[in-house]
Amino acid sequence: MLDLLITHATLPDGRQNMSIAVQDGRITEVTEGLQAPAHETVDAGGLLVSPPFVDAHFHMDSTLSYGQPRVNESGTLLEGIALWGELKPTLTHEAIVQRALQYCDMAVARGLLAIRSHVDTSHASLLPVQALLDVKQRVAPYLDLQLVAFPQDGVLRAPGGLENLKRALALGVDVVGGIPHFERTMAQGAESVKILCELAASQGKRVDMHCDESDDPHSRHVETLAYETQRLGLHGRVTGSHLTSMHSMDNYYVSKLMALMAEADLGVVANPLINITLQGRHDTYPKRRGMTRVPELMAAGLTVAFGHDCVLDPWYSGGSADMLEAAHMGLHVGQMTSQAAMRQCFDAVTVNPARLLGLEGYGLVPGAFADFVLLHARHPADAIRLRAARLGVWRRGKLLARQPAPAAQLHLPGRPEKVSFL
Ligand code: FE2
Repeated sequence: MLDLLITHATLPDGRQNMSIAVQDGRITEVTEGLQAPAHETVDAGGLLVSPPFVDAHFHMDSTLSYGQPRVNESGTLLEGIALWGELKPTLTHEAIVQRALQYCDMAVARGLLAIRSHVDTSHASLLPVQALLDVKQRVAPYLDLQLVAFPQDGVLRAPGGLENLKRALALGVDVVGGIPHFERTMAQGAESVKILCELAASQGKRVDMHCDESDDPHSRHVETLAYETQRLGLHGRVTGSHLTSMHSMDNYYVSKLMALMAEADLGVVANPLINITLQGRHDTYPKRRGMTRVPELMAAGLTVAFGHDCVLDPWYSGGSADMLEAAHMGLHVGQMTSQAAMRQCFDAVTVNPARLLGLEGYGLVPGAFADFVLLHARHPADAIRLRAARLGVWRRGKLLARQPAPAAQLHLPGRPEKVSFL
């Protein structure tokens, strides 16, 4: 007797009438038309069943703090950093924990079950680190929270920056972060990349740096990141986040750079919602979009994910833990409108970030964890178009969240009584 059987599911790769069998928290079989006795059977009715959403780039220590102590008037990255600097002295452990837990509630309801969050290590107190380590433990039964030691004020620029980051790693933070474009000079930025990659190599950690988050076509720390990755043999374990300067770089230089990135198997995270709002703020018209070259990087064989980055914080006044919103924006900004490209946008919030995080047991295959989402959509492009409702969210075979299919009642002469948008 199975614990759970999902029937009549459509999978992201297009297979239809699929059954997913679950026993002891794991998927035991994914087969067309399978019927078998189970304690619970869920008929997906031909709708899409996907592995859970994964956010490769988030800031959980600042989330849901919008308006504290004021809002970002210019809308720039640098005012956001200054504003976060004003907010930090007023933070408490409990306030960070409560906001983060509230965000994780939203995430689970959205089928978002794994998040890589950067956590600010700049201050010697490591208050945000302690708070998010607490949160990581508390949400572990239902959400994988991976933490990145993020030296927001610069690892070389801020006094004690490197030491505080090392202390955060010693406390249990998973990944080495960085912010080379915020260091004082290009040379210092490059030096910080070298130091941090060597630190990660010596501790067997992954790397995920905020890198070249500017409109400056000459900000080229990603070149150093790719170089250090291949020099230290960290292939496939290093991610460059944002890379917005690539939007503005010279095409010839990018043609060389992308080959170096591919050689290093560098991970890439674009954050479409944030990149489109923070970048291009010094432009008149035409205004640059700021998002890195997602379709070209994918075509070059790199693993590219879309991150949410921020929700209701000093940098962004929107968001609701919905990775389909990030995919929707990425699709538009990247002009990824072909059938294949829309599918790639769905992969960029599911399988691609799962690879960057190094998640084990991910995917709709026998042996994987029984983690999946039933979407009110027929296929991935539909899910993005509709930011589809998550009708059911399961982890380890247990139902974590459910919501009804959306439908509007209509009062129109000669027309149906309701519309479902499918
Ligand atoms: Fe970020």
